[in-house]
Amino acid sequence: DGYDLWLRYKPVEASAKGAYAARAAAIAPASDTPTMKVARAELERGLTGLVGKPASAAAGTRDGVILLGAASDPAVAKLNLPLKSLGEDGYLIRTLPVNGKATTVIAANRDIGVLYGVFRYLELIQTRQPVASLDLASAPKVKLRMLNHWDNLNRTVERGYSGQSIFDWWKLPDHVDPRMVDYARANASLGINGAVLNNVNAKADSLTAPFIDKAAALADTFRPYGIKVYLSARFSAPIEIGGLKTADPLDPAVRAFWKAKADEIYKEIPDFGGFLVKANSEGQPGPQDYGRTHVDGANMLAQAVGPHGGVVIWRAFVYSHEQPDDRAKQGYTEFKAFDGQFADNVVIQVKNGAIDFQPREPFHPLFGAMPKSNIGMEFQITKEYLGFATHLVYLGPLFEETLKADTMVKGKGSTVAKVVDGQLDGRKLTVMAGVANIGSDRNWSGSQFDQANWYVFGRLAWDPEADTRAIARDWAKMTFTNDERFVKPAVDMMMGSREAAVDYMTPLGLHHQMGEGHHYGPGPWVSGGPRADWTSVYYAKAGPDGIGFDRTPTGSDATSQYAPPVGACFADLKCVDEKDLLWFHHLPWDYRLNSGDTLWDGMVKHYSRGVSYVDGMNRTWASLAPYVDAPRHAEVADFLKIQRNEAQWWRDASIAWFQTFSKRPLPAGEKPPE
Ligand code: GCU
Repeated sequence: DGYDLWLRYKPVEASAKGAYAARAAAIAPASDTPTMKVARAELERGLTGLVGKPASAAAGTRDGVILLGAASDPAVAKLNLPLKSLGEDGYLIRTLPVNGKATTVIAANRDIGVLYGVFRYLELIQTRQPVASLDLASAPKVKLRMLNHWDNLNRTVERGYSGQSIFDWWKLPDHVDPRMVDYARANASLGINGAVLNNVNAKADSLTAPFIDKAAALADTFRPYGIKVYLSARFSAPIEIGGLKTADPLDPAVRAFWKAKADEIYKEIPDFGGFLVKANSEGQPGPQDYGRTHVDGANMLAQAVGPHGGVVIWRAFVYSHEQPDDRAKQGYTEFKAFDGQFADNVVIQVKNGAIDFQPREPFHPLFGAMPKSNIGMEFQITKEYLGFATHLVYLGPLFEETLKADTMVKGKGSTVAKVVDGQLDGRKLTVMAGVANIGSDRNWSGSQFDQANWYVFGRLAWDPEADTRAIARDWAKMTFTNDERFVKPAVDMMMGSREAAVDYMTPLGLHHQMGEGHHYGPGPWVSGGPRADWTSVYYAKAGPDGIGFDRTPTGSDATSQYAPPVGACFADLKCVDEKDLLWFHHLPWDYRLNSGDTLWDGMVKHYSRGVSYVDGMNRTWASLAPYVDAPRHAEVADFLKIQRNEAQWWRDASIAWFQTFSKRPLPAGEKPPE
């Protein structure tokens, strides 16, 4: 039913089992710390499922012992392994003789690295890699690899499509659901080391003593798995729960409130991660309410948590309807000038694109633009604009496209990945955050295939330069089967699924064409309403003369927020990639695409191509029935049917609407909207 995620540990085929079992006959943990205990327990659980229950034996007493230990454990120290370069969280897995006995060592500088190594070792077996002669090392490139839960204290989840919040605030702290351990295991298996427990649209209540106790119970549960808890902080909390009249960050009483609040939290949660803040965006309170700046607000909080080793993650997703300028420009406009002014323990968390988690967005212009600040990435794992949990859309290619994008700020190769992992500007406090798609559904993510989005996010947070096809292959093998007759077609299907959604929802650089408020299904006609930049017509700018948002110097000039060669390319019809065409340009309906089609004909063909792709996914999935258990197969098949109907709905609605402006017939062979 999907509860086990990619940690299924089903028995290896008899033909391969013996070889693995011989190498994994016994476990020797070098210490007994809480993290070492869970590392040992996970290895035992995994091996028991995969190849048979391991024994306990000290390294060097027999062949096939797996030695688990940290650098300071004597059993590991005497092996003189090259652990230094692995940093705080990396691990090394090496086959070597101990007293002449074949031994596998999983070692790290800290116990948590050993746990990560254990998961990797199990993955090797799960994906049927050889383990007889191992010498591999891996260390994460990003320091804080976090999930952002948009979970409310009443257990509803903002933009959540997989049930209620998994955090059961009512029963905490007295009862911690055992599922919290499985949650921690799954995250640790990917190297995720932080979780923001509550919605960025935060209630001040989450900072009151009862909720701090609840968060502390979760922190205690997650701690052995290397996961720190963070809280979203409501900027006006000093007023709502502190009895003050103001939340002005320069007011001494406000500063004292936050300092005392931080001290109170750290008393309960000594390794509390810090605060995530959405300020002065979409009506949330913030320092600008008092004529102060993002720097004033962020640095005040940074001072409160700094002495405890905490960080402040301040979001750059800011925009206001009082600002008439192109919404895509506002984040950059508000933050760029502050480069170098934020405290060392502040991270500016930037969404991958400048609007809002669209099926496709060019990378956010803040990446590379603030070299003297810590700049973190915020991806959305939950698919707010991508069909929620029913549409099969593997987000690996979306994440990869952004991470591989070249900002050119320091010449060729200045990729977003190198900004995010700190390489480009030599930054150490690095962050990759994903808005979680996890809920109380039995399958965690609302669908089987959305588990892959959690998985790929975690793998990319560890290594932003990793290949997302390879990651999809690992996931498919671990989640379903190693049979290549399944893996190849399933992964091919996944890899094209995001482009298909772009095609049937918002082809050629269109964006924000979805229904108002819920963001599900087409709504290109949405206009009026409380604000222009929540409407589709604002973004498509369709009219008799053509379609698209002019962000070149003749329009909003958002292109000038990028490094000159990048901005110039986006602004130049001969250079801009067609996938971003209507993001940056307003063009006549008869504009010629590379294919030779007119813009109108090409648009229609993209919509149809998206629908055909989903037809193909339905066929592929039907053919994979022999390799998947019936319940999971049926669920995916049902959802693919929904997706097929809704892709058609998107196509038809979009074409019908835009045709009222283009006044052109459909290209030959295209069916009229149903
Ligand atoms: C989107 C989303 C909101 C969310 C916001 C944010 O606008 O629709 O639900 O609060 O992003 O990231 O802050």
